[in-house]
Amino acid sequence: MPTLLLRNIAQIWQTYAPGQPVDMKTAPSIKDAYLLVKNGKIDAFGPMADCPDRADRILDVTGRHLFPTWCDSHTHLVFAQSREREFVDRIKGLSYKEIARRGGGILNSAQKLREAPEERLLESALGRIDEIISYGTGAVEIKSGYGLSVESELKMLRVIRRIKEQTRIPVKATFLGAHALPLEYRDNRKAYVDLVVEEMLPQIAGEGLADYIDVFCEKGFFTLEEAIRIIEAGAERGLKAKVHTNQFNNLGCIQACVERGALTVDHLEVVNDEEIKSLKSGDTLPTLLPSAPFFIGGHYQPARRLLDAGLPVALASDYNPGSTPSGKMQFVLSLACIKCGMLPEEALNAATLMGARAMELESTHGSISPGKIASFFLTPPLPSLAYLPYAFGSDLVERVFIAGEQKVDKRR
Ligand code: NIG
Ligand code: FE
Repeated sequence: MPTLLLRNIAQIWQTYAPGQPVDMKTAPSIKDAYLLVKNGKIDAFGPMADCPDRADRILDVTGRHLFPTWCDSHTHLVFAQSREREFVDRIKGLSYKEIARRGGGILNSAQKLREAPEERLLESALGRIDEIISYGTGAVEIKSGYGLSVESELKMLRVIRRIKEQTRIPVKATFLGAHALPLEYRDNRKAYVDLVVEEMLPQIAGEGLADYIDVFCEKGFFTLEEAIRIIEAGAERGLKAKVHTNQFNNLGCIQACVERGALTVDHLEVVNDEEIKSLKSGDTLPTLLPSAPFFIGGHYQPARRLLDAGLPVALASDYNPGSTPSGKMQFVLSLACIKCGMLPEEALNAATLMGARAMELESTHGSISPGKIASFFLTPPLPSLAYLPYAFGSDLVERVFIAGEQKVDKRR
């Protein structure tokens, strides 16, 4: 692959040296810089004074800022149909949980997914992958969880596998069989958890269809005991946990996840001091999804309390048809700053390096570091880093490069 040289970059952000510890409040950067890409990887970068004079392709990007692509570690972007009827129902006063209780919500998506042919699911999901790449995302996690039967969960995970094969960005697959209790199991919840643990999981793990396991631990969905059973069953099959928890209630699931070495705990709209203490005692990464409370109402994540306790946090979109029909990470950063009290540097670290860590991709993604994959985006001239979350309605992702190849150019 030929070399690519970008010259006159106004500022390169997230220039972490190998092994450099992350201080959430600091975003390392270099002004007036060059970046050299070789074989799809970051070969070198530094001040323009040291810029090489040769490369197969040279781009002058005067005034542009360069960022590593977003690492979106929590999405449900394989789905059959949008759910704007529920959106209107909420405007009229129904809550997200009430809609779910009446068989809407996740069960509605599961019904639609069961009816959808695999090819159509794949085509629409690939469209969403192109969409998020155009917003600057360069690595993504995708969950199952709209199947809720052996056949349909397998169908969803096979679609995710085909996405992995057909896109240039890394994709991690998470098995979320315990996303909601299907109506036919309403009087026999144990039978459904048995199905998840004893039938779905062995087949999925056997076919290597999932990288992680997830469960929605919440009143009206799955109990703490059920969540623990699922997390432990996943661990026995080598699947680390990334768990939906504390969206509406504190059920003790954060502590259970930390004790069992879960990779991440996600949502966290409600978090108490004991849970913060527990997170401090382990390596489980809190992952905040502020687009969900933006869209369905409720508390925003108490990011300030987590960060002030010295915890790292990741930010992700939660792209899904029910609680977050958007995969736009720039907007997630805006919400993190405006509604969760995060500083722009903290939001940037959370959406890049911490997002990478939330998918175990930190050795290849999440920063501009020598040897990492050359996935980055260029913005128009920016007055400051803060302008990125501040200008919440402007699309500041102008050109996107994935593994050294330009994939998107929105310059007018
Ligand atoms: O992360 N909270 C659980 N699951 C998804 C929403 C799924 C849906 O409503 O379809 C979430 O918000
Ligand atoms: Fe989610």
